[in-house]
Amino acid sequence: MNTPDRNGSAAAPAGRPTRQSGPEEAARVGREVLDRTGTVVVGAEEALRLALAAVLAGGHVLFEDLPGLGKTLAAKTLAQALGLDFRRLQFTPDLLPSDVTGSSIFNPATREFEFSPGPIFAGLFLADEINRTSPKTQSALLEAMAEAQVSVEGTTLPLQRPFHVFATSNPIEFEGTYPLPEAQLDRFLVRLRFGYPAAGGEQDIIARRIARRQDETRVANVTTAHELLRLQEAVETVGVDADVIDYAVRLTAATRRHPDVEVGASPRGSQGLVLLGRALAVLDRRTFVLPEDIQEGAVAVLAHRLTLTPTSWAQGVAAERVVRDVLAEVPTPSTVPHG
Ligand SMILES: Nc1ncnc2c1ncn2[C@@H]1O[C@H](COP(=O)(O)OP(=O)(O)OP(=O)(O)O)[C@@H](O)[C@H]1O
Ligand SMILES: [Mg+2]
Repeated sequence: MNTPDRNGSAAAPAGRPTRQSGPEEAARVGREVLDRTGTVVVGAEEALRLALAAVLAGGHVLFEDLPGLGKTLAAKTLAQALGLDFRRLQFTPDLLPSDVTGSSIFNPATREFEFSPGPIFAGLFLADEINRTSPKTQSALLEAMAEAQVSVEGTTLPLQRPFHVFATSNPIEFEGTYPLPEAQLDRFLVRLRFGYPAAGGEQDIIARRIARRQDETRVANVTTAHELLRLQEAVETVGVDADVIDYAVRLTAATRRHPDVEVGASPRGSQGLVLLGRALAVLDRRTFVLPEDIQEGAVAVLAHRLTLTPTSWAQGVAAERVVRDVLAEVPTPSTVPHG
């Protein structure tokens, strides 16, 4: 068997896509997007790499962490660097589905109702603090995310391509919040957490704020909507070995058997592992997926799809830990070469 290194410098094995230019270009652009985002967001490199990979894989991203850890900033900055038509909506308890989707407004001049599109008609829609709005409004977003279309007053309207949702959410259930139902969580390819800044990071955040003399941040775009579609097509050319697919399936199946888990991840989870793995491979200039790509995305793809048993939940068991257990337990395929 061929033994390419992790950066894919060996020739692509027979039977695998040989088109190098697409992934080469995608990797270069991806590096540029991350570098530019890093000029504003301190730390969080791994979370941002996974967020970018999720977009390249055509997915939606949930940023979930405690207040003030830079979720909104990261989502906004990545959106700017990607150059997508960007709309942000602050989710509040009184927000109506039509505030997201749009509605028909009577035009007295023409004496007709005209559709006024809501902010969801964007390339990248930032649903900020999504757990603060009612389930009814959350479900309007769910339809848009799942089907890339919205139903307004009996008419179905397609959304733009590419269309991605970045949502931010707070894991602490404050009064007046509505935790996302499992069905809606499942629609996010990844859930990402940042954690507190590493040593020196917090000083850096403050120093940068002082240096720019204003609160507002802005980065220039690296790509456009059209270019992003091309990069996504490059990811679609990446082939996946049967044993890597099998590995993703075995990891996902193991979540269903874990003693702390009541409901494990569905096939949407195993598919997510492989789809994200292809984008991570491309960011590393490879046209084939290694088990390491699956491992890198496993917590982000699987943890939010697990329902813990009431006892484990009450004992504070973290779904992330369950995924790490599963990674330790399921053998890494040996037939696929490692770098
Ligand atoms: N990693 C970071 N890099 C740069 N700035 C940061 C970072 N984390 C926090 N900040 C700064 O802290 C402030 C809060 O960030 P932000 O509004 O993005 O937090 P949040 O996670 O969205 O919080 P909330 O849950 O309350 O909405 C911002 O003004 C930003 O300047
Ligand atoms: Mg925020």
